[in-house]
Amino acid sequence: MMRYLTEKLCSETKFLNMIIYILSNFFYIKIIFINTQRGGIMKRFFNFAFALGILAFAIISCTGPEGPAGPPGKDGSPGTAVCGVCHESSSFLLAKQMQFHNSLHYLGENFGIANRTQCAVCHTHEGFRESLTTKLDTTLAVIPNPTGPNCRTCHYIHTKYDTTDYALTYTAPVKFRYGGQTVDFGEGNLCAKCHQARPVSPAPVVNGDSINVANFRWGPHYGANANIYAGVGGFEIPGPETYPTSNPHKTRIKDGCITCHMAQPFGAFAGGHTFKMTYESQGQEVEHVASCATADCHPGTTKFDIDGKVTEIKNLIAQLRQKLIDKGLLDVSRNPDGTNVLNEYILLPGNKPKKFSSLEAGAVLNYLLVAKDRSNGIHNYKYTKALLVNTLNALQ
Ligand code: HEC
Ligand code: HEC
Ligand code: HEC
Ligand code: HEC
Ligand code: HEC
Repeated sequence: MMRYLTEKLCSETKFLNMIIYILSNFFYIKIIFINTQRGGIMKRFFNFAFALGILAFAIISCTGPEGPAGPPGKDGSPGTAVCGVCHESSSFLLAKQMQFHNSLHYLGENFGIANRTQCAVCHTHEGFRESLTTKLDTTLAVIPNPTGPNCRTCHYIHTKYDTTDYALTYTAPVKFRYGGQTVDFGEGNLCAKCHQARPVSPAPVVNGDSINVANFRWGPHYGANANIYAGVGGFEIPGPETYPTSNPHKTRIKDGCITCHMAQPFGAFAGGHTFKMTYESQGQEVEHVASCATADCHPGTTKFDIDGKVTEIKNLIAQLRQKLIDKGLLDVSRNPDGTNVLNEYILLPGNKPKKFSSLEAGAVLNYLLVAKDRSNGIHNYKYTKALLVNTLNALQ
């Protein structure tokens, strides 16, 4: 009885709980007090003292500060079992961490400068998760002390403490910021949320008025892969090539971006959570063809350049680039060795605002879209080719 009482009393830490507990047990204590009315003087005294003792013990032991938690029970701590669902000795989780630590999501440093309200949704973890709640394209405030995209950006880590925590934070169709079309790439919607064009402002209209460009960073921003993949957002000048209405790489690949960029990984170098399609080995660039070489796609292929299509697109991009330089429309001075196309912009002499005809601006827009996509047609061969061929044709 005594053990039952002390255990029960001491498990109640709050004073209020204790009072409620004592009241609820009043009947029980009363019986002990009633016992003090019976029997001999010694027995009465003993019963009275016993009842008082229980009350005093309850008050002292239960109103003091809470002590530290004890060590796990010898039956094995339930806490460890919960954590062990993921933090276990296999390399299942570790492999993803190793791959991720080799990705630009982890290594990139632009989250540090792109934490302003217009940038933070795509560049910071905090901004992205905030936008999933607010449904806005901007954050409510600058994100202080930001982190770049990480496990918690794409998964609900440490929420329910079971494997549902690996569910993706975003899977719904995506409404483009530029153009407003809604696209659905399955699980690839998560990627499209960030890897899409920013609104081009002002935007040229085919056969429309000239536009005034005030900032050399004018254009679709750096990562408009989703627009190319969907086949929208280009300046669609009529010409010898027709603009396709579908993209076999989109209709035949259920989860879009993920199927190729997160293919069966090669160590921590490509595929999986590196999101990479290529890696360096012994000074050579190796193409990770795991997703291409499957039975229902391009069985047995060892390279991206199937039927010379990548070479064809690379040549067209190089031709358009040269034409734009010759016409004084493209600034490649920030990319002196030609290795980082992301550093190429529309040319504003003296960095002053300049008027461009809609064709001039549209031609630069198409170049920036296609060249900065960097898939050389793999994301959408026909759309890429149509934009390049028709732009070159119109600039003749
Ligand atoms: C559903 C899987 C899962 C469960 C269950 C889980 N974790 Fe984690 N834990 C993760 C992942 C994923 C990370 C992030 C790893 C990374 O950032 O590289 C992580 C990270 C951590 C870290 C590193 C610091 C941090 O927060 O990123 C600690 C410490 C940790 N977990 C402890 C625990 C403990 C303790 C439990 C049990 C109470 C637990 N985890 C349960 C998946 C899990
Ligand atoms: C929260 C926004 C966000 C999401 C979601 C996201 N990315 Fe990214 N991704 C970025 C940013 C930002 C960078 C560049 C980081 C930097 O430079 O600091 C990047 C970089 C990359 C790169 C490297 C590009 C290069 O220049 O080498 C690849 C590839 C990539 N992401 C693919 C994906 C894929 C595939 C998905 C979907 C599984 C995805 N990303 C989801 C924002 C995102
Ligand atoms: C719609 C999402 C989105 C928004 C909004 C956005 N970015 Fe980005 N940004 C990206 C992605 C995705 C990349 C990665 C391109 C790549 O490496 O493939 C990127 C790349 C960059 C880069 C790297 C260019 C390079 O040369 O490596 C810089 C710098 C940058 N963004 C700055 C900004 C700033 C500043 C803002 C706000 C004014 C901003 N971004 C807004 C998605 C976005
Ligand atoms: C840019 C988004 C993104 C980031 C960042 C990211 N993941 Fe993932 N992760 C995914 C996607 C998408 C899948 C599904 C891949 C597939 O279907 O093949 C996935 C799958 C997983 C899985 C497999 C889940 C299963 O049920 O089989 C684990 C485990 C995982 N990620 C852990 C992590 C950890 C740990 C980190 C951080 C080190 C991380 N992820 C970072 C997008 C991301
Ligand atoms: C059919 C497979 C495939 C699909 C689907 C795909 N990609 Fe790619 N992606 C590639 C290949 C191949 C490259 C070029 C790699 C190279 O040559 O360096 C590439 C290049 C890129 C790059 C430039 C950086 C890099 O890794 O070279 C980014 C960023 C990127 N893709 C993001 C995306 C996003 C976001 C989606 C979904 C909207 C997507 N990709 C869909 C295969 C694919």
